[in-house]
Amino acid sequence: MRNQVIILDFGAQYTQLIARTVRELKVYCQVIPGDATVGEIRSSVDPSGRDIPGAIILSGGPDSVYEEGVPLPDPEVFRLGCPVLGICYGMQAMAKILGGRVVEGSVTGTREYGPQALRVLSKDGIFDGFPDETRVWMSHGDTVDEVPPGFIITGSTEKTKVAAMADPARKLYGVQFHPEVKHTALGRDLLANFLFKVAGLEADWTMERFVERSIREIRERVGDAHVVAGVSGGVDSTVCAVLVHRAIGDRLHPILVDHGLMRQDEAAYVVEALGRLGVKVQLVNAQERFLGRLEGVLDPERKRKIIGEEFIRVFEEEARKLGGVEFILQGTIYPDVIESGTRTRNVIKSHHNVGGLPERMDLKLLEPIRELFKDEVRLLGKELGLSDEFVGRHPFPGPGLAVRVLGEVTREKLDIVRKAQAILDEEIRRAGWYDRLWQCFCVLPGVRTVGVMGDKRTYGHVIAIRAVHSEDAMTADWARLPYDVLERVSTRIVNEVHDVTRVVLDITSKPPSTIEWE
Ligand code: XMP
Repeated sequence: MRNQVIILDFGAQYTQLIARTVRELKVYCQVIPGDATVGEIRSSVDPSGRDIPGAIILSGGPDSVYEEGVPLPDPEVFRLGCPVLGICYGMQAMAKILGGRVVEGSVTGTREYGPQALRVLSKDGIFDGFPDETRVWMSHGDTVDEVPPGFIITGSTEKTKVAAMADPARKLYGVQFHPEVKHTALGRDLLANFLFKVAGLEADWTMERFVERSIREIRERVGDAHVVAGVSGGVDSTVCAVLVHRAIGDRLHPILVDHGLMRQDEAAYVVEALGRLGVKVQLVNAQERFLGRLEGVLDPERKRKIIGEEFIRVFEEEARKLGGVEFILQGTIYPDVIESGTRTRNVIKSHHNVGGLPERMDLKLLEPIRELFKDEVRLLGKELGLSDEFVGRHPFPGPGLAVRVLGEVTREKLDIVRKAQAILDEEIRRAGWYDRLWQCFCVLPGVRTVGVMGDKRTYGHVIAIRAVHSEDAMTADWARLPYDVLERVSTRIVNEVHDVTRVVLDITSKPPSTIEWE
């Protein structure tokens, strides 16, 4: 049995929160599709397929277990011998497969959304140390009406008889509520009980361990081959390059493709930061090429695909010149994977690291940080010796400023947004707000509005400011920047950036908006 958790994903937006909490409890976990077979689960844990995970968690999901064709866990999961915790849909799937009964909430009137009081009926196992009553977060239509043979009901709410169930002998547990969300008062304690008391796992997952394990895995996978890496200027791709450099040294060839969509002075900054760690970066000027292909393209998804594709082409060309290159390194992180749609989820945007990859690709993909959340990538960066300032930089999308210049991308528009961004960064840093924000950037919507300057009518661009707080980019709240900071930013932008007559502020959260405008 390996000291790690497998999370079977049935498509809930909350799945990544389960993974985060497990990681924060210092247990390594992986998220794989909910309908993975036991064979696939074994090989995720251990390529030879001999070991099993220390515990399995079944996530929630949007489906109803009694409908045709919905993803269900492999029934063998419950006979594998490791503890299983089913959450929401995961508990219903467990109930259905093991001989219980699940009913539609609209029939029984047991739908529940939001906070509920849970009466704890058995304080063993996952409820060890719990009070008699505790607040939990519910979000379900269907409900388990009869528990499977061998199970007992361990918690109820006013409406839901089976809010929690357990078969302690087989170490199978189910909860209808969501322990992974903050609104469940003791959710973290519940998960900790499951991991440590029920499954007997050890809290041994640290960045140091991650580095050791990754280096080993990278060496195994890559062998003697050479790897070409795309460093985009963002934290993810840079951290990724440093990690792989640690594993294979100068067989890593980091290439910074200057697509003309970067922020001011960004290329030089990245080359220097990596140079300090002994990683030599090759700078390729491909501005004409990218801007040429983007000419006349208005649709955001097309833009993303074109940029992603062009990236790969440039890499392939450079790799061919180097010779002996077999792999391409990408700094894909977990939110990119989720948002680009898994087997069980809808596509929200094609992040160019994942969904935008062209179908024909000559190089094998190496993605050593695809399981990490952004804050974990920052910790990893520090562990590898990057400065606080570098790892603290705001995330920047792979397609760069192209998704911040709405509609057609031109050199003139890019220059405007670049200059405005430099002013915004400077003022936000000066005001001490940079580290308090997840991201803060300028968008050029491409509409012109009327202004007046020196008694003359002007007709220029609008710049929109987007500043958000977020934990992992899955959700975000717009930042309440101080008015005096906004005033300075606005005055400087209209004064210093030619052809801008108006500055506006984006005050929407995610959802319903996304962070980037395209
Ligand atoms: P959205 O706009 O989807 O963005 O709410 C979530 C986070 O991801 C960043 N982002 C990207 N990062 N490639 C990336 O590497 C992309 O194509 C991409 N699109 C968005 C965005 O800046 C935010 O932090």
